[in-house]
Formats: sequence, structure tokens, C-alpha cells
Amino acid sequence: MPSFSSHKLVVLTILLPVALIYSSNAQLTSSFYSNTCPNVSSIVRSVIQQALQSDPRIGASLTRLHFHDCFVNGCDGSVLLDQGGNITLSEKNAVPNNNSARGFDVVDRIKASVESSCPGVVSCADILALAAEASVSLAGGPSWSVLLGRRDGLIANQSGANNSIPSPFDSLANITAKFAAVGLNTNDVVALSGAHTFGRAQCRFFSSRLFNFSGTGRPDPTLNATYLATLQQNCPQNGSGTNLNNLDPSSPNTFDNNYFANLVTNRGLLQSDQELFSTNGSSTISIVNSFAGNQNAFFVAFAQSMINMGNISPLTGTQGEIRSDCKKVNGS
Ligand code: HEM
Repeated sequence: MPSFSSHKLVVLTILLPVALIYSSNAQLTSSFYSNTCPNVSSIVRSVIQQALQSDPRIGASLTRLHFHDCFVNGCDGSVLLDQGGNITLSEKNAVPNNNSARGFDVVDRIKASVESSCPGVVSCADILALAAEASVSLAGGPSWSVLLGRRDGLIANQSGANNSIPSPFDSLANITAKFAAVGLNTNDVVALSGAHTFGRAQCRFFSSRLFNFSGTGRPDPTLNATYLATLQQNCPQNGSGTNLNNLDPSSPNTFDNNYFANLVTNRGLLQSDQELFSTNGSSTISIVNSFAGNQNAFFVAFAQSMINMGNISPLTGTQGEIRSDCKKVNGS
């Protein structure tokens, strides 16, 4: 019969390495593809660079896809799955994405290009994380070392997308709660909202501010009068609501801190943008002021918050799969 202490030794020699393997799998690393696909970052970047030639908005659209992926079942590529087969209710068809999320064709082009160099190795979830970083830095924003090693999920969660992705009509308290639900704090809310320094929004997401705000018969009082007039012109009351507007009118395609300067002068486009500065007594006000006055402080915070967002519940190790087509679960 082995003694008690030799039992302990056996348990340690067997379980410790197993525990170490599992804990290391739970961590994303910047070097994940350094042996299996060393050029993945530059492949992603060059496809985006090419796409930007004909669509200056595409970097913004790709950045938003990573956000909408990570807030629903973690960063697992679930936003990319088409409806059909076992995917009965796609995230693409959820309210925040339907007729709004875009860039899926470019994700497919990136995936094809990555597959031709490194077949079967790089997940679609990691492609979204890499595409967001490349898009931000190509637009003049910060660069950061993207953590990698996510695997792709096997399911989509449409009701999750409807409930977990913040709406532009949510109060700041609700938006903060939705961020807190995925482990992100108020600093992350303000820094990540700074992604609205590029890209577009359709009139329907803010037209309630323009004519009869909250049943007052007047526009939102936190809208600069000149800016209001421009928006009223581009978003007529009986229009379809699909006209596009720059989220940052002062530098629409550049990633800079003008978004925060706009908030300070009542030029936030979405109600959820302006609330960061115009909610009385909110702790977000001083953060907006600091980013408005210091672009570097915004860039450092944004990069850190993108890493935080990219760490939301990844699938790692043997969980999930490496999809060969980002639109479909393998074998379906
Ligand atoms: C804080 C809560 C947020 C709300 C309520 C919100 C809401 C919206 C809405 C309504 C649009 C316009 C969509 C359309 O017109 O089709 C939009 C666009 C965009 N959002 Fe957000 N968003 C939020 C946070 C974020 C975050 C965290 C990111 C990324 C880190 C982000 C990145 C973008 C980008 C880049 C666009 C422009 C996309 C394009 O031009 O295709 N947003 N957002």
C-alpha cells in the first residue's frame, strides 16, 4: 500500500501538468501564431488596406464587428455565422446588426487570404480582433499587440445580441450595466465609445433627437444648434431613416480624439454619445474632458480597452473549432 505522502506525490505529478495546460489554454497570447502563421497580421492588414481604396468606411465597419462579436457569447466569431442549418436565429439578423452591421464580405476576403498562406490555423474570431487593430491604426489611431488564440464558436445567440449589445437609446446607466455584464468598466465605456471617431450612422438611430425629443415637441437640448440644423436637413422627418451621417463630422475617416472634442461642444451624434458628457454628475464627464484635451491619453486607454474587450470569454484549447468558412460551422 502506498503511503499517504506518495499518494500526494502521484496526485501532484499527474494533476499539476494537466492544470498548467488548462490554465495556459485559457490565456490569449500575442505570439500564438508565431510558428503556424507568422505573417497573419500583415496579411489581414493588406486586405484591409486594399478594401479601404474603394470603401473608406470599411475599417470602422470591421472594428464594430469585433465589438458586436465580443459582447455576445464572448469573442468567438458568432456574429459571422449565416442563418441556416443548425443556426436557426443568426446574430446577423438581430436588431443591432440587421441592415446595419457590414464588412462580412471583407472578412471573407481576409479569411481566404489567410487560408492560402496558413490553411486551417487562424480562427475567424482572431481575424476580427486583428482586423480591428489594423483598421484603427490604418486610420491614424493607436497600434497595439493583439492577443490571439481564440477559437470559433459553434452557435449563434440572436436573443443575446438583442439584449447584450448597447442601444443608442439606452441610458448611460444601462450602457454601463451592459459593459459591466461582460467585465468592462466605466473607463472602457468612455474609451471604447471613442471608436465613434470614424464611421457612419443612419438617421434612424438618432432622429428622435431632432424634432420631438421625448415628447417635448422640441429637439434634444444637448444638440448644438448649427449641428442640429445640418442633421435635420440630412434626416427629414418623413424620410426613410437610412441616410448616412458621419459619427465624427470634423474628421470622418480619421481615428483621432475629435469625437471627445465634439461631445464637449454638444456635437455628439447619438444620444448615447452625448450622454457621456451631458449626464449631470456622471463620472464619465471628467474622462471625456481628459480625452478631449489629450489625444495620447485617449490612444493609450483605447488600446488597453480593446485588449480588455478582446479578452471577453474566449474559447481556447480544444473548445470550439477553427472554422474554414467564417459564415458556417464546419461540416454544415
Ligand atoms: C457604447 C455603446 C454603443 C452604442 C449605443 C453604439 C451604437 C452604434 C450605432 C447605432 C451605430 C450606427 C449603426 C448604423 O447606422 O447602421 C454605431 C456605429 C459604429 N460603432 Fe458603435 N455603439 C457603441 C459602442 C461601440 C464600440 C464599443 C465600438 C468599438 C469599439 C463601436 C464602433 C462603432 C463604429 C466604428 C461604428 C461605425 C460603423 C460603420 O460605419 O459601419 N461602437 N454604433
